[in-house]
Amino acid sequence: MQRPKVARTVLTGGVVAGVVAAAARGALAAEGPVHPVPNPFAPVSPPAESILELSFLVMAIAAGIFVTVSGVLFWCVWRYRQRPGDDHEPPQVYGSNQIEWAWTIVPILIVLVLFLATARTINELQASETPEGALKVTIIGHQWWWEIRYPELGVVTANELHLPVSTEAARRATYLTLESQDVIHSFWIPQLAGKLDVVPNKRNLLWVEPQETGTFLGQCAEYCGTQHAKMMLRVVVHEPAAFERWATAQRAAAASAADVGVDPAKVAAGRDVFQRTACINCHTLDGTNGDGRFGPDLSHLMSRTTIGAGAATNTPENLRAWIDDPHQFKPGVLMPAMKLDDAELDQLTAFLLTLR
Ligand code: CUA
Repeated sequence: MQRPKVARTVLTGGVVAGVVAAAARGALAAEGPVHPVPNPFAPVSPPAESILELSFLVMAIAAGIFVTVSGVLFWCVWRYRQRPGDDHEPPQVYGSNQIEWAWTIVPILIVLVLFLATARTINELQASETPEGALKVTIIGHQWWWEIRYPELGVVTANELHLPVSTEAARRATYLTLESQDVIHSFWIPQLAGKLDVVPNKRNLLWVEPQETGTFLGQCAEYCGTQHAKMMLRVVVHEPAAFERWATAQRAAAASAADVGVDPAKVAAGRDVFQRTACINCHTLDGTNGDGRFGPDLSHLMSRTTIGAGAATNTPENLRAWIDDPHQFKPGVLMPAMKLDDAELDQLTAFLLTLR
């Protein structure tokens, strides 16, 4: 196996300090804490809260059954143990209508309670249409990254979902339409909602209503091929005004070379490399001839904290190494090694750095 050529941080299972620190440094991700662990036991959104409540009910009932059954078992073993000098067989009793009724009726009642509670929760969570005033987002699963589109805001991004927080005073839910470009994926941000499959030729609707700002991690939760494990998702929940600022910045043209302190000549050469190589077949990039949809939209690449759907932190070194050969970060990734020479790699990286 080829070894990585650069120091890097791989976000395995969403728990790596480097990526977290990078997210905290990012200007847009600075609001609220970064939650490095996808944790269904710390919900911040009503669907995740309902699921946790239901889980506690199920766990309480299961614990009750466990304690009762093992209690009776141990009591019987103790109470009817063989005592010294007692070597005759105990009386063999047969049949008890009371006991038979009890162990038939009680399980039926337990199953009925579980069924009704589950049906109520499913009914609460399932959405068939997007209500008025909710934010609409379309999420498209790809091998192995997430395309994120805000049809009403005219914003397209990837792997990092930005949402407004919902407050008591101004509640705002987000309705996510889930689609797949290829195979079945599963969309899961444990703090915000349950899992929902992302199925080709089908639209699934999932709603979330984050009530705390911060960064939450999610993960594709259905095996979808080689790099299923590196199909991560970051959710950044903003204050409403900050969310609007983010959306406005995403719609605006990317920064110029001067703004980001890179050599304009290098940037122009890099743009040229981008436009005359296979990059344009797979990536959309505003202001260039790139309009492909196989790979992520790069128009504001540098506003994202990771590359390769969480495979590496988005630093200039990692970006350059990724273009040189993305397989060193994410073996099997569908982006080919671009076979560029060192000068072209430098130019292309300089150009990408302007895409704030
Ligand atoms: Cu996509 Cu697993």
